[in-house]
Amino acid sequence: MSPSFQLTRAVAPDSTYAALRRDVLAGLTHSPKTLPPKWFYDAVGSELFTRITELPSYYPTAAERACLAAHSTEIASATGARTLVELGSGSLSTKSRHLLDALPDLHTYIPVDVSESALTLTGQALSTERPQLSVHALIADFTADFTLPVSVGPRLVAFLGSTIGNLLPVERTAFLSGVRDLLDPGDALLLGTDLVKDESVLVAAYDDPTTSLFNKNVLAVVNRELGADFDTDAFDHVALWNPNSEWVEMRLRSRTDQTVKIPELDLTVHFTEGEDLRTEISAKFRRDGVRTELAAAGLDLTHWWTDPQARFALSLSVAR
Ligand code: SAH
Ligand code: AVI
Repeated sequence: MSPSFQLTRAVAPDSTYAALRRDVLAGLTHSPKTLPPKWFYDAVGSELFTRITELPSYYPTAAERACLAAHSTEIASATGARTLVELGSGSLSTKSRHLLDALPDLHTYIPVDVSESALTLTGQALSTERPQLSVHALIADFTADFTLPVSVGPRLVAFLGSTIGNLLPVERTAFLSGVRDLLDPGDALLLGTDLVKDESVLVAAYDDPTTSLFNKNVLAVVNRELGADFDTDAFDHVALWNPNSEWVEMRLRSRTDQTVKIPELDLTVHFTEGEDLRTEISAKFRRDGVRTELAAAGLDLTHWWTDPQARFALSLSVAR
């Protein structure tokens, strides 16, 4: 890898393990049972997510790519960004490449993700593709406090893929004000948000065999990291639309009455037949809601672009 690539761990490995223990204990002793979606993304889960983005039914990636292909030049001239910070960057995507290509004065790229494997792949790809670019990858939890490496302004923070939809509303509020704190006045946030649409289209995007494997991968992560004995075949993948909250929910539904042991937590968890474990919410948005949430965090919406079919929106907002 070129000397212009650095990888910094902003979270100690044992604090990741402690956070997993805390989340699993809290989520599986809660009624109804839940697990936070950030634990999907080990190397297997990151690879499964990439496969999901290639499915025709999973329209958000293609729709957001269309927005970026059409508007990256405008984003570049509106922001003049010299540093691009990408939260939840995953493995380097065509979407990120559109942005990197469009920013003529870009000096530093800071991808931030919990997945070390995805960040390493990004570093490898960029050191051959863009040896002049300074890349400083950060292994960090974007829902926790973290500081950015020293970098030149103006800064553009990109949070693509509608990953913001995987946060609960209360987490979203805290997250957006955390993003605002990373910015100087005049710096910008580019946010990808999937939009509310016909239920059948939404559910179809989350109800296929690859997404089922992705969903069940969280059980494999808990088995490996905490010595649990989840039988992934004993759960069904469920995707449903919650019209009140306007989010898709992914759940794992227990096929039978069963008991799961999690030795590292000294915990035994009972599932009744048909009981659900909620593993993800994926909120869908409307323009007014996005503008209001951004404004509450001190970010003023300046641009709103959608793909031609208005399935997905990219918004640009500026820090007050
Ligand atoms: N931005 C890419 C990838 C989206 S998948 C795209 O639009 O296609 C979501 C990414 O967010 C994954 O790479 C996952 O590892 C990362 N992620 C999820 N929760 C996270 C958290 N709390 N902190 C940091 N990264 C997180
Ligand atoms: C990363 N995130 C925005 C995806 C989503 O659509 O909520 C994760 C995903 N879950 C199932 N399929 C994709």
